[in-house]
Amino acid sequence: MSTILERFEQLHPASQRLHQRAARLFPDGVTHDIRYFTPFPLYMERAQGARKWDVDGNEITDYVMAHGALLLGHNHSQVQEAVAEQLRRGTHYGASHELEIQWAERVQQLIPSAETVRFTSSGTEATMMAIRLARAFTGRKTLVRFDLHFHGWNDNVVGAPDREGVHPHALGIPDETLANVVVIPQNDPDTLRRTLREEEVAAVILEPTGASWGTVLLDPTMLPLLREATREAGALLIFDEVVTGFRVSPGGAQEASGVTPDLTTLAKILAGGLPGGAVAGRREVMSLIEFRVGDRRDFGGRIPHPGTFNANPLSAAAGGAALGIVATGEPHRHADALSRALVRRLNELFRREGVPGCAYGQASMFHLVLGADCPPPIDDFTWDWQGQPGYHLPRMSGEAIWSLRRGMLNEGVDLMGTGGMVSSAHTEEDIGRTVEAFSRTVRQMKDEGVL
Ligand SMILES: Cc1ncc(COP(=O)(O)O)c(C=O)c1O
Repeated sequence: MSTILERFEQLHPASQRLHQRAARLFPDGVTHDIRYFTPFPLYMERAQGARKWDVDGNEITDYVMAHGALLLGHNHSQVQEAVAEQLRRGTHYGASHELEIQWAERVQQLIPSAETVRFTSSGTEATMMAIRLARAFTGRKTLVRFDLHFHGWNDNVVGAPDREGVHPHALGIPDETLANVVVIPQNDPDTLRRTLREEEVAAVILEPTGASWGTVLLDPTMLPLLREATREAGALLIFDEVVTGFRVSPGGAQEASGVTPDLTTLAKILAGGLPGGAVAGRREVMSLIEFRVGDRRDFGGRIPHPGTFNANPLSAAAGGAALGIVATGEPHRHADALSRALVRRLNELFRREGVPGCAYGQASMFHLVLGADCPPPIDDFTWDWQGQPGYHLPRMSGEAIWSLRRGMLNEGVDLMGTGGMVSSAHTEEDIGRTVEAFSRTVRQMKDEGVL
């Protein structure tokens, strides 16, 4: 019988050929860090609902869902029609248009902190703008962020200074930039309070459900504490809701928690599967983008914000249509229930197979750890953060992660790292098929001595 790796190569010869071409063109042969895959990534040809098909004709149940952008699944008919209609009218007017207003009205309706909105082309641009707004508004330099929280790839949010002040995680970031960034553990109120006391903090930015889309859940009492402590210290609170916005609830983690930040960064579901991001927040902070002096050339007294594809008509059409459906709350009810069912059934499976590990989740996002100890989730769903000292992740070995990912692809399931995003297009049958795929993969991993 073939190994997981041999079967992966047998099932995907056309992907392997495409990767040989790609390797001559792109660093690592890929166009996004998360798409890096060994021995080669799969190349997709089309997608519909909860499925996608690769160039070898394999049908795949998708839990990557456009890196979290597709809460409604691939090609939702209303989103597709809105984009097709706009395509006929034009892709870019180089001018204002009504769809951008409808889109922003939806954001304002759904996101509690969104007094005003500014669209960007990506989540990375949104976090860059939010940090700049906070520094400009407070007149302070220091950004506080939490260890392992992901905010895109602009200079302020990658790398972390170590004790010697040298950042160990990313090349090309000036030490001077990192000198203005403090990285602290996420579930540590004392360190947070001390940092806010000792530093002149412009803003605290975080993923409001915890590091890496809730892989390590945030202690829920941290959000009200953060609200109170930042207000007392005169610092702004930024929720990075690029993933959680419109997913944890129609109004994101801020609606679900009842804690309203000063600024919110959005992307992914915001733009209905097309490129787009936004900063939303308090009017007095956002107004720093305005031409208050009345002289277009005066860039000194404001924050400049051009961007060729800001609020482009196609993204506005897709985003407006998607958020209209999000506002009903129906996609959440469906996807959250399936995510909960999947996690419960995976925990049953791991117990039955006698493998160490667990699955856990929040809303329609799920995560898993296999081959390493993991505290049992509360209600077979919620990660027991109290069982985890500090902020350490229960870690899977690199070998186990690759073996799991390849094995699941052999079985027709694409995970996002060691977890996934459930959409409103997934069905109970998809969940059943996914559990069977896990069952076969886990057994093979055991046979190969990986688990
Ligand atoms: C929480 C968070 N913030 C920011 C970003 C960056 O967004 P983008 O990939 O649109 O630049 C991401 C991307 O995954 C994210 O997960």
